[in-house]
Amino acid sequence: MLIDQQAGTVTVEGEDWPVVADALPRRTFAIISHPDAGKTTLTEKLLHEGGAIREAGEVFSKGNRRRARSDWMAIEQQRGISVTSSVMTFEHQGIRFNLLDTPGHEDFSEDTYRTLTAVDCAVMVIDAAKGIEAQTLKLFEVCRLRSIPIITFINKIDREGRSPFELLDEIADKLALDTAPMSWPIGMGGMFRGLYSFEEDRAWLIDKVGGALCPTIIDGAGLDDERLLAAVSSQTHDGLLEDAALAAEACPAFDRTAFLSGDMTPVYFGSALRKYGIASLLSALARHAPPPQPQPALPEPVEPDASDVAGFVFKMQANMDPNHRDRVAFMRVCSGTLKRGMKLGNSRTGKTIGLHNPIFFLARDRELTEEARPGDIVGIPNHGTLRVGDTLSERSGLAFTGLPDFAPEILRRVRLDDPMKIKQMRKALLDLAEEGIARVFRPLEGSNWVVGVVGALQLEVISTRSEAEYGLAIGFEATAYETARWIDIADEPMRKRFIASQRANLAEDGDDALVFLARNGWELERVQKEWPEVSFSAVRERI
Ligand code: G4P
Repeated sequence: MLIDQQAGTVTVEGEDWPVVADALPRRTFAIISHPDAGKTTLTEKLLHEGGAIREAGEVFSKGNRRRARSDWMAIEQQRGISVTSSVMTFEHQGIRFNLLDTPGHEDFSEDTYRTLTAVDCAVMVIDAAKGIEAQTLKLFEVCRLRSIPIITFINKIDREGRSPFELLDEIADKLALDTAPMSWPIGMGGMFRGLYSFEEDRAWLIDKVGGALCPTIIDGAGLDDERLLAAVSSQTHDGLLEDAALAAEACPAFDRTAFLSGDMTPVYFGSALRKYGIASLLSALARHAPPPQPQPALPEPVEPDASDVAGFVFKMQANMDPNHRDRVAFMRVCSGTLKRGMKLGNSRTGKTIGLHNPIFFLARDRELTEEARPGDIVGIPNHGTLRVGDTLSERSGLAFTGLPDFAPEILRRVRLDDPMKIKQMRKALLDLAEEGIARVFRPLEGSNWVVGVVGALQLEVISTRSEAEYGLAIGFEATAYETARWIDIADEPMRKRFIASQRANLAEDGDDALVFLARNGWELERVQKEWPEVSFSAVRERI
């Protein structure tokens, strides 16, 4: 890549691209769902609607070609799941959308949780036949913890599903959220005829013309509009009128303040596969989703309109080339205007890092941005200097807070086939721990390191990558431990007594934090009762 500052161009692969300074409003969001609810399909259709891809399937087929080059990514392909997160940026209706992809598989939920710390809004996709599923609930709880507003998209209305009322009730009951239906299906499943948008006063109807389904849009239509009456059977029309009256009575009207505080969700119906209701969803994101929000930090939250640059790393991704230990750190810009070549301080190490090759995600076709603003994500290539949770800023003494580490649910001892390679193995494990792929625990007694993961698939990633990137053949053996808790003891003499008494069950993690390894829930409870002044934590914030 060649940059000509004066001409304002960047040359990529021999072609000149104009550089744009864009100060468009931002909407930074993620899609949360249970696997199979339709997140991938919806992502594609949103990108298509937003003009970022010409044909649905384009981005993902390219991604597959790129991914096929790396060995460990083969796991993704074999399992048909998405392990890594990435960022997709597009502009629509004068707004720059940053869509952060999150892995749907539950083994990688930890990565998803961290990605959610970098968004201002989430779209919750629900399968109309299945309703709220386990993973949706878990992810919703993370959003609630951070008061992230949620827009609901009830997907697959082209198939037989539950009644809209039943689905709205379930959201209200299970998530304790007020629901405000913004659109309504005109018939469902086999009887599906279209959507009525209460918000836009628009009927969107589909009709079979010469075997193909063609949409007709009736703008400014009231529910009694003659054009609507003429287009659907009287039975379907009566059903819509009845449902609309009941919905208006049973559900509160949309209240943006309640939505922004996480107490209400606007609900849109549609079908990602058939691209029904996608335009309304995108307009909803433009209209209702919040602009970049202040981010929790010490000594005080960072306001997006502050002039100095500050951001935090929420994700690391290994370089696709297994021969290099390069990594890309994904950083959310929280304030200021970040430019290529800028120098930022890392609050954890106290060192300065020059952003010589930040990856700015593509804004528009044929144009590149050379700067990133609050709400944007930049990729920072590095050789291990950055970690998940790092704060990069022009301000000294600033540290973003709230990036969670979760207690592992699977603990394994690492078996090394060639004992001469123990040093390399330790380095590999610490590197992978820094990327946030696993926890590494060094017991205070004994020399066998233990790795902890949230999902079993992470173990596969560790062994595949150890082999591909470090030439290490490793396996995993059962340990006596079932779970781990981070320990916090304010009083130093008590800390010493606790360590002396529990030494056999204690370890240090990759950041040298003290961890209690428990054989089972019963043991954990017993020790907790014995040491009431000690805090045992299942979630740790990376500061
Ligand atoms: P995920 O990322 O949330 O796991 O879901 P994904 O988009 O992969 O969708 C899961 C399955 O649901 C896919 O079918 C997809 O085609 C289907 N699907 C998504 N949206 C809709 C919809 O609006 N209506 C209907 N009827 N189906 C939908 P699949 O058979 O598993 O995969 P494929 O062979 O179709 O790709």
